[in-house]
Amino acid sequence: MQDTQKTIERILKLKEECNAVILAHNYERGEIQDIADFTGDSLGLSIQATEQEADVIVFCGVHFMAESAAILSPEKTVLLPEIHAGCPMASMVTAEALREEKKKYPDAAVVCYVNSTADVKAESDICCTSANAVEVVNSLEEDEVLFVPDKNLADYVSRFTGKKIIPWNGYCPTHNQILTTDVIKAKKDYPNAEVLAHPECRREVVDLADKVFSTTGMVEYARNAGDEFIIATERGIIHKLQKDNPGKKFYNVSEFTVCPEMKAIDLDSLLLSLEKMQYVITVPEDVSAKARIALDRMLEIKR
Ligand code: 13P
Ligand code: SF4
Repeated sequence: MQDTQKTIERILKLKEECNAVILAHNYERGEIQDIADFTGDSLGLSIQATEQEADVIVFCGVHFMAESAAILSPEKTVLLPEIHAGCPMASMVTAEALREEKKKYPDAAVVCYVNSTADVKAESDICCTSANAVEVVNSLEEDEVLFVPDKNLADYVSRFTGKKIIPWNGYCPTHNQILTTDVIKAKKDYPNAEVLAHPECRREVVDLADKVFSTTGMVEYARNAGDEFIIATERGIIHKLQKDNPGKKFYNVSEFTVCPEMKAIDLDSLLLSLEKMQYVITVPEDVSAKARIALDRMLEIKR
């Protein structure tokens, strides 16, 4: 306990000395969320990355998030405390494979979920997050949309647009393994709770939910409504929900809702990151320039 306190003090001191800011995704460990200057969903953190005055951004999330911060703030040093923290869904599409697919649909716009590499963003017309995917797709002139890499988010968007959505066959392993049986059991155990699901879940799980939101969407909704919630997304969000709403109850939809990648960073690796200025995330200039166009187009839409 005393050691933890010392680590926290050292992180805060080093953060000040290097003029750094700590951004953390809503799925990170509780202690990382607590020490961060800002927590949020992918969209909120992308916006934060463009607005920071700091010299150093320590990104507590996964690789694609730090990459986006590096693209949006090229003049800053962007650190990812655990270099191996990656997103399995982002690895499900490569720039090369996307280039091949684009040949089959020359008239389609390419919408790329931010959970993707910079190379894939560079091949795309516009990015989206779970918070703005429907708005992004509906903002396009094209009638056909190649949507990469999340097939579940693509399917969710297809319900709110007249456009033809061509999905990629990617998915988030953490969300995709939430099953209807999990939701049905949780509803039976907690009959008064509302089900909040993330659009990375399968269609049949989304169909059982009362509301569908990005992680920050869930935070905003729970602040303003209801007393009891079943949460169908990665369980790290429950730390924030519970902290914001001490009088309300939040239940994980199942025991398996863990993304190991989002748990890779702990206080020790965060401290080491600031001590050694590691691991610096950079994106080659030509890729960054193209990816930035897709990210900027999205940010023009915001929430
Ligand atoms: P959001 O916080 O943007 O909803 O993202 C979900 C996610 O899976 C990030 O990896
Ligand atoms: Fe990727 Fe899913 Fe983990 Fe998010 S929760 S980083 S989408 S694997």
